[in-house]
Amino acid sequence: MKLTRVLATTLALCSAALSFSATPVYLDESKTLEERVEDALSRMTLEEKIGIIHAQSKFSAPGVPRLGISEIWCTDGPMGVRPEVLWDEWEQAQWTNDSCTAFPSLTCLAATWDPEMAALYGKSIGEEARFRNKAVILGPGVNIYRTPLCGRNFEYMGEDPYLSGKMAIDYVKGVQGNGVAVCVKHFALNNNEINRHTSNPIVDDRTLYEIYLPAFKAAAIDGGAWSFMGGYNLFRGEHASYNPILMNDILKGEWNWDGAVISDWGAVHDTETAVTGGLDMEFGSWTNGLTNGVSNAYDNYWLANPYLNGIKEGKFSEKELDDKVRRVLRLTFRTAMNRNRPWGSMGSDEHRDACRKIGAEGIVLLKNQGNLLPLDPAKVKKIAVIGENAIKMMTVGGGSSSLKARYEVTPLEGLKRRFGKDFDIVYERGYVGDTLGEYNGVKTNQDLRDFRTVEQLTSDAVKAAKEADIVLYFGGLNKSDHQDAEDSDRLSMVLPYGQDELIEAICKANKNTVVVNISGTGVAMPWADKVQAILQAWYLGNETGNAIADVLSGDVNPSGKLPYTYYADLMQCGAHKLGEYPGTPAKDKFGNDIFDIPYNEGIYVGYRFIDKNNLKPTFPFGHGLSYTTFKYGKATVDKTEGVKGDSFTVSVPVTNTGNREGKETVELFISDLKSSVDRPVKELKGFSKVSLAPGETKTVTFSVNEYDLSFFDADKHEWVCEPGDFEALIGASSADIRSKVKFSVR
Ligand code: GLC
Repeated sequence: MKLTRVLATTLALCSAALSFSATPVYLDESKTLEERVEDALSRMTLEEKIGIIHAQSKFSAPGVPRLGISEIWCTDGPMGVRPEVLWDEWEQAQWTNDSCTAFPSLTCLAATWDPEMAALYGKSIGEEARFRNKAVILGPGVNIYRTPLCGRNFEYMGEDPYLSGKMAIDYVKGVQGNGVAVCVKHFALNNNEINRHTSNPIVDDRTLYEIYLPAFKAAAIDGGAWSFMGGYNLFRGEHASYNPILMNDILKGEWNWDGAVISDWGAVHDTETAVTGGLDMEFGSWTNGLTNGVSNAYDNYWLANPYLNGIKEGKFSEKELDDKVRRVLRLTFRTAMNRNRPWGSMGSDEHRDACRKIGAEGIVLLKNQGNLLPLDPAKVKKIAVIGENAIKMMTVGGGSSSLKARYEVTPLEGLKRRFGKDFDIVYERGYVGDTLGEYNGVKTNQDLRDFRTVEQLTSDAVKAAKEADIVLYFGGLNKSDHQDAEDSDRLSMVLPYGQDELIEAICKANKNTVVVNISGTGVAMPWADKVQAILQAWYLGNETGNAIADVLSGDVNPSGKLPYTYYADLMQCGAHKLGEYPGTPAKDKFGNDIFDIPYNEGIYVGYRFIDKNNLKPTFPFGHGLSYTTFKYGKATVDKTEGVKGDSFTVSVPVTNTGNREGKETVELFISDLKSSVDRPVKELKGFSKVSLAPGETKTVTFSVNEYDLSFFDADKHEWVCEPGDFEALIGASSADIRSKVKFSVR
């Protein structure tokens, strides 16, 4: 008897010891992610499952405190880590430790055409989000630039799905290498800001799959994005944030994606569709019947008590709930509960240098008549700097991407630092645009007031221009409403504040005029033939002035190329020529007012539309000059016959024929010479950026497979590569084809 009791006691002590010391599976990082997810799920109550899938504050979700499952903290935005806001308000929390590095706009990143810059960008911004202990950064934005009027084009990566996708991949990997999730947005078809909560794009499947999905697919599959954000808009009558076609059929079905879908803030409008439509986390809802703001009663969110009660009443099973919870747990274990994460950093010299490098590499030299640039102290003594955008801080404003930057070097400051001793620099305002410098409680503290009349401002500017050897005009747009800003679109392509007239007057006063256009989207340039040089300088963040001075001085040889077409006017853009922007009044399934926007231009977006209609834009997609010149040799193609189809290697030698080092992006377009369906004249299917010393030649190679040659057959619902002849077109831009070579697919 005694022995058995001793044994039993010993066993009990051992198992107690074991159970005490044994780490629960969900906390054991030696287990697989799925094992941890399943174990955590099995321990959660119904209330805890409901709790984990919706917000508890403006930017956080509660996790499961009882089990030690971390909260999920999100932060904007795609170009820098947003300053802390109050628990349930957009207003500033007035923290003093949350000033960030403001990186260049994503159109600037796209304009580098350099995946290494995307990797550097993602790593840097991910380190800042990690240091701020954020699990999710709400970016990148990869919506296609369908119209130059879209207020958020500056947050996206241009008009071409292939370029946007390729640049998104390395951004995603760079961020997530820090144990911080990206939240790729706004999935999908959020291509305008006007009526952004009620726009209902009418898009056929082929257009959807060939133009509006590829960048998201690349981010999800090749980038491995851990979360996506659904857009505010509708698609085929259902809100994007919980659209069963986008979220269930495509993202989680066809793409077999295991991440979490987060709603846009306030994008959820009912429970049932949110339950069945593939939404996993609800943020920012303004619940019906309750006051907004502090008492926002998160338990009344659509995926909170209404969902819980629905389950208890048998209206919903727990099947969808468990899938949502699994995805949120996966997101949590990959980020907040991942012990192997690096520690991040904020405002480091490395981030400063990355900001300046990406900015300088993204600036596009559109025109340089007579090689007026780079500025040469031997030829130039007096410079007139004119325009509000030479002095206006742009890191504040524009919507949710607005930042509290540690500092911002304006263009004028950057020029003075670089050229102060070389040149006599005078500054003239030229025009008064937006003197407000505040967004959500963040202030620039600039006093931009100027009480001169337009006539006085103009005559002062013209006088300065007359007396100078060269004029550097800094204009374009800013982050105020109806410019480059969220929640409103531009009202036209025309530059605001009478800039066109001012630029004309300045050109008359001094033929050596350089226009530095600061914007995140295309603008009309009626003066393009009159000015000697034009730079497209984006919103470049903290290092704006230094990056611009790097290029104007020639310290950096510009190598950016346009990620979108510079239309002469809106009639060169399919969305306006054929499409029905901003849409026509209609009703959704609940009878609410919406705007149907038939995308009649279909796949003919950007240069695809330009080519189809033989139009001549101000500057074409993919255009960008250098301070040196490049010669392209003859393209050749080698074919490899494979079991799964043919693949092709296209090669082209490129030589630097100038007298200074430079980088050149070589663009590969593919043309299907004979197909059963209408196809674009050509489509971008490759690009490669090479650095060449004077006289140096490198051979650039591209690999092309049958998928690259395919079009999406909506009837078969699959990609189809038809046998026949194709042509590879090697371009310095979409309108500057340097070499062609034919090949055929069996
Ligand atoms: C905004 C934007 C979205 C942002 C979110 C949180 O309305 O559409 O891009 O991340 O709400 O600020």
